Amino acid sequence: MKHLDGKVAMITGSSRGIGRAIAEQLADLGANVVVNYASSADIAKEVVAGIVQKGGKAIALHADLSKMSDIEALFTNTIAEFGKVDILVNNAGLMITKPLAEVTEADFDQQFALNVKGTFFACQQAMKYMENYGRIVNLSTSVIGQMFPAYSVYAGTKGAVEQFTRQLAKEFGSRQITINAVAPGPVNTELFQAGKTEQQIEGMKKMNAMGRLGEPEDIADVIEFLVSAKSQWVTGQTIRVNGGFI
Ligand SMILES: NC(=O)c1ccc[n+]([C@@H]2O[C@H](COP(=O)([O-])OP(=O)(O)OC[C@H]3O[C@@H](n4cnc5c(N)ncnc54)[C@H](OP(=O)(O)O)[C@@H]3O)[C@@H](O)[C@H]2O)c1
Repeated sequence: MKHLDGKVAMITGSSRGIGRAIAEQLADLGANVVVNYASSADIAKEVVAGIVQKGGKAIALHADLSKMSDIEALFTNTIAEFGKVDILVNNAGLMITKPLAEVTEADFDQQFALNVKGTFFACQQAMKYMENYGRIVNLSTSVIGQMFPAYSVYAGTKGAVEQFTRQLAKEFGSRQITINAVAPGPVNTELFQAGKTEQQIEGMKKMNAMGRLGEPEDIADVIEFLVSAKSQWVTGQTIRVNGGFI
């Protein structure tokens, strides 16, 4: 018996990066997994095939999490396929780093639409569809604590995520559903690598206590705890997972 046997886990943005590691790890623990993607259909299918090959159950579902109608469809399609939702990991996210003078309205709107609106309304759908004793984990970032130049909009989106994670804990609590945020430091994914020089990446490694980048599995390990029965007394919290970065 694996400890997530019989659970249904929806991980937004799980074709690549941190989301993929979470999907694979929760499937290994017995959960039926929804691998959500926006544009990487082929990669999402590969993730599903890998899970099925190891004896797990998974489906790939398209949904652009910045669109309300897609968020609703992701939930109804999950219910149609697996019958329920026990676990939601709001992982899909976008980072555009620019100094204040260069930020466009589109940069601002895209990041808020996915990181904030997408996460918030996926929580609203969870309120409607999630089983009692469910688990929600929202992805924030440890960058919030560093005040890096050029990260203002991105950090602002995650500040909103952390605050409504705290607020919503009270609304979900009556149904024994926990909701927490995980705030990784720099993690070795495409989102992190994009646009950075080798020198900048080396500099980032030196900013934590361990002298390396985080790997997606480092984040998935903490999320494994937060979606398990063992975390029933942890809610409304933000857990920084960053090797001592802040
Ligand atoms: N990497 C880091 O250093 C780091 C640090 C702190 C926090 N985080 C947070 O961790 C989360 C995952 O980051 P990551 O580094 O793994 O990112 P990533 O490598 O860029 O992967 C992003 C994932 O999100 C999906 N996605 C993108 N836009 C989407 C949309 N509109 N709707 C649904 N899915 C969408 C992508 O799927 P498609 O390929 O189909 O678009 C992909 O599977 C984000 O919330 C990020 O802010 C990352």
